[in-house]
Amino acid sequence: MASVLRTSRTKPVWSALARARFSSTAPKNTTLKERLAELIPLELENVKRVRAEHGKKAFGPVIVDQLYGGMRGLPALIWDGSVLDADEGIRFRGKTIPECQELLPKAPGGAEPLPEGLFWLLVTGEIPTQEQVTELSKDWAARSAIPEFVEEILDRCPPTLHPMSQFSLAVTALNHNSAFAKAYQDGVSKKEYWGPTFEDSMDLIAKLPNIAGRIYRNVFAAGKLPAIDPSKDYSHNLSTLLGFGDNAAFVELMRLYITIHSDHEGGNVSAHTGKLVGSALSDPFLAFAASLNGLAGPLHGLANQEVLIWLSKMQSQIGENASDEAVKEYVWATLKGGQVVPGYGHAVLRKTDPRYTAQREFALKHLPDDPLFKLVGQIYNVVPDILLEAGKAKNPWPNVDAHSGALLSHYGLTQMQFYTVLFGVSRAFGVTAQLIWDRALGAPLERPKSYSTAAIEKMFKDKS
Ligand SMILES: CC(C)(COP(=O)(O)OP(=O)(O)OC[C@H]1O[C@@H](n2cnc3c(N)ncnc32)[C@H](O)[C@@H]1OP(=O)(O)O)[C@@H](O)C(=O)NCCC(=O)NCCS
Repeated sequence: MASVLRTSRTKPVWSALARARFSSTAPKNTTLKERLAELIPLELENVKRVRAEHGKKAFGPVIVDQLYGGMRGLPALIWDGSVLDADEGIRFRGKTIPECQELLPKAPGGAEPLPEGLFWLLVTGEIPTQEQVTELSKDWAARSAIPEFVEEILDRCPPTLHPMSQFSLAVTALNHNSAFAKAYQDGVSKKEYWGPTFEDSMDLIAKLPNIAGRIYRNVFAAGKLPAIDPSKDYSHNLSTLLGFGDNAAFVELMRLYITIHSDHEGGNVSAHTGKLVGSALSDPFLAFAASLNGLAGPLHGLANQEVLIWLSKMQSQIGENASDEAVKEYVWATLKGGQVVPGYGHAVLRKTDPRYTAQREFALKHLPDDPLFKLVGQIYNVVPDILLEAGKAKNPWPNVDAHSGALLSHYGLTQMQFYTVLFGVSRAFGVTAQLIWDRALGAPLERPKSYSTAAIEKMFKDKS
């Protein structure tokens, strides 16, 4: 158990700290920013205590293979919003996906959590009230407009430019109005960094539906972009901007989708990139644009696009309602062609991703007879055994990307190239929550040590 903290005047502060850090519901009548202002000094004390108690302790050996092997398992980062267990999957501030579905506030008549509440949870570790979530919806709606020049940048992009490249361009350009960049130029004190970082983070999240909606409408010629409705929640507005706001099930899907894609601890490419770039005190827009460029890679977020492309090719080659044997043959052909089976495997997970399971449960409730959903289920029954037999992948089970495209396409969002944009909208929640804390806690510039192969050889020759 953690020890009782004492200030220099030996006044015990454990009870205040415990209340603030471990109470699971947010105090009423406070805004997110006000709550953060209360929590930051407590967390600064807490980190100071942890470093004083454990700062000089070793965290395990580092082996040379980890340097060559993409740093798998290397303990290297602090990330408070979520922790990923290899067998159990993700927990957001200690809460599993089913717990979030149960505890976080919902829209009237809705069953899925509102991402507004998830953001509050990621930032504070607390479950907000319905009123606090409604205030966040309103705040984001009020901040949602994007500058005209950003609209023009998007309108000038050729429709052949991948939606993720357009997304990254637009987010980079938002840095034009960064509160943090301005405050830094004006000589803001380090202690105050978190305030403008918070404002930029809120602006960034708020503006993403308008950016995503504009890209979707431009690239796929889907008509004029409607206005944000300040009386609607974030996911409802995003759905409306994409043209699906009248479909209540799609809006519910967006609430679940944004919640489960938001954060997956700190070492994945998009999260780590955002943190790394942010550590140079690049503002949240620049940091998150870098995250998006990582998310756009096929081994990371683009896998949701790749899954649907792969499934569509499979259907055109072996037909709908194909036998298990035909599916197996197609999977083996993919592997023998030197390609990966998209949507399967994971760098950390060793069991079925609970984000996959949450989407499967959504499908069982809302679209049990959808042919693509059935194919996704059929693949689940054949791929793990094949990957095990092939003997390379450490995790033969499906990840989040194996399922999302089938849900989106069921509701008519069939443009696969757009799927990773939705992942990106969601990932902003996790990356910005950590950026705020990094600035609040004075996280330093990231600068790990690199080695050449020659240096490694020399080091061990010298020791032998
Ligand atoms: C996610 C992923 C990149 C993790 O990579 P990793 O941590 O290096 O995974 P492993 O340690 O299990 O990889 C060992 C080998 O198995 C292979 N492998 C892993 N997953 C595989 C898959 N789904 N299909 C085929 N081969 C796979 C790797 O490519 C690697 O091959 P190599 O030794 O020839 O380089 C990998 O599983 C993958 O490419 N999956 C498909 C893409 C995907 O779904 N990405 C989204 C992840 S959320």
